[in-house]
This record gives sequence, C-alpha cells and structure tokens, in this order.
Amino acid sequence: MSTAPIPPRSVGVLGGGRMGAGIAHAFLRAGCLVTVVERDPASADAARDRVLDGIRRSVERDPTVDEVEVGARLTTGTDSAAFGDADLVIEAVPEDRALKEEALSHAEAAMPAGAVLASNTSSISIDDLAAGRRRPERFLGLHFFNPVPASALVEIVRGAVTSTETVDSAREWVQALAKTPVVVRDSPGFASSRLGVLLGLEAIRMLEEGVASASDIDAAMTLGYRHPIGPLRTTDVVGLDVRLGIAEELERALGERFRPPDLLRRLVADGKLGRKSGEGFYAWNEER
Ligand SMILES: NC(=O)c1ccc[n+]([C@@H]2O[C@H](COP(=O)([O-])OP(=O)(O)OC[C@H]3O[C@@H](n4cnc5c(N)ncnc54)[C@H](O)[C@@H]3O)[C@@H](O)[C@H]2O)c1
Repeated sequence: MSTAPIPPRSVGVLGGGRMGAGIAHAFLRAGCLVTVVERDPASADAARDRVLDGIRRSVERDPTVDEVEVGARLTTGTDSAAFGDADLVIEAVPEDRALKEEALSHAEAAMPAGAVLASNTSSISIDDLAAGRRRPERFLGLHFFNPVPASALVEIVRGAVTSTETVDSAREWVQALAKTPVVVRDSPGFASSRLGVLLGLEAIRMLEEGVASASDIDAAMTLGYRHPIGPLRTTDVVGLDVRLGIAEELERALGERFRPPDLLRRLVADGKLGRKSGEGFYAWNEER
C-alpha cells in the first residue's frame, strides 16, 4: 500500500522574486511553514505581497483554500537566522554565481545540520556550487518552472556527491506539492533546457531555410507530436534573449549542435524578444 508523500514541516526560501514567491506559494499550499528571506526590508515587503497575491489568485480558482490560514504560515524577513528550524532551504536569488555562493553560505550557517539545501539555478553547475558547501552531500538542485504554482514538473539535479537520502527526501517533497520530479545528473542544461532549446534552435533553422512558416512548423509539432504550443511559440513565451543566452552557454559546454542560428541573433539585436516585447516569431500585441 502506498502512502501519501509527506511535505517538509518548515521551508526556507532565499530570494522572494518571481520564482521564490512561486516556490513559497507551492509549499504554503502543501501545508508547510514557509520563511522567505530577502536582501532588504523593502524587498521583503514586496516578496510578502507577491506571495499573498498569488494565494489570493489561487483562492479565486479554488474557494476551498483558506487564505487567512495559508497566509498565517508565511514569515518574511531579511535575516537567514530565521532558517534555524528549516527542513529544506531553497535558494532563488538572481542567476549570478557570486551572489548565489554568498546567499548559500549565509543559509547553511543558520540551518540545522540535517536539513537539505537546494538551489533553483537554471544553468549554474550544481557540482560547482557544491564545492563551497559545508555539507555537499545534503545539497542539490531543485529546478522549478515558471509559473511555479501551475507547473507540473521539478527537475531534481543530483550532484556528484549528493546523497541518495537527500535525493529521496527531495523526491518525496516534490510529490507532496502534487508535482512530478525527474532526477537528472548535474550536466549542462539539465534535461529540460537541453532538449527544449535544441528543438527550438532546429525550428529556427528550418524557418531560416524557408522549410515552412512559423505557424506550420509549430502545427507540425502540436498536431503531429502533441507538443503543447510548438517550439517557436515556446521560444516567444520564454524570451528570445533568454533562449539565446542558454544556447550560447550550451554551445560552449556541449558543442556545435547548440550554435545559435543567425536569425535568432538578428531578432534579438532588433529587440524582437518575443511576447515580452510584443514581437518575436509571432505578433503578441494583446498580451503585452
Ligand atoms: N524566471 C524563470 O523563468 C526561472 C525559471 C527557473 C529557474 N529560474 C532561476 O531562479 C532564480 C531566481 O530567478 P527569478 O526569475 O525569480 O529572479 P527575480 O529577479 O525575480 O528574483 C530574485 C530575488 O532575489 C532577491 N535577492 C537578491 N539578492 C538577494 C540576497 N542576497 N538575499 C536574498 N534575496 C536576494 C531579489 O531582491 C529578488 O526578489 C535564478 O537562479 C533563475 O535562473 C528562473
């Protein structure tokens, strides 16, 4: 008989921006105590508003959620000492190696020795970050997707010295969020970016070579392969500049097959970044 996965009792989140607020939201909804630590009081207030806004929107979709009860389990502040009783701390500060190193050091100085420390990095090597850790066997990547409350996937990124016990705890905690974990060895682009970006780059090359129109290339994937929106529309939603940055990094790490097509570089240089700028492979006037 299988038992329901049990969430951690207390979770710390370092950085309450777009991803950190979503991660806090997801653990609050699973019944956890959640502490979000930000860099200054104004950012802590903004993080609190962001998390509470998200909860308010989820109440509109699901009236059984008790907004007051969920909100009462949230603490926000500026001092990592608040992670003193955490079972799990997730770092979600901006994608800057030095910033992450510093944030992770502060967190691990405060958290209990038996707790698990995770980074939500989308591209920095978990083994590189593990090198500076006090307890590297209790450190891993937890790669959440945006928007966190609505996304079904979390990549668990296992470093060379991450213990099996740590991976098992992470797997159970992700399942307790009603999300599906996939376990990936620390490697460039993990599983999701590596495959998703490669498909997007080939679709751009096909457009460049005049193989088919953008909407026909996307239709080939949505109707032929059940891709949800097609690789070009996905690139528009993620941001052409974001995809270009990842492709350049993967080209350095994995070689020629990730070389960004000229068309992608041209569109980014012209400020056509996809949905956020109003135009990419498609026009997005209504969604800006
Ligand atoms: N946005 C995405 O789609 C996405 C998806 C997956 C992973 N990620 C990764 O998640 C991480 C965070 O990205 P984001 O989009 O949420 O960024 P963001 O800029 O929205 O949020 C980062 C937050 O960290 C705070 N911060 C900065 N320095 C801090 C410090 N020293 N201590 C505590 N807080 C600090 C900032 O005030 C900000 O609120 C990055 O590593 C990013 O690569 C992002």
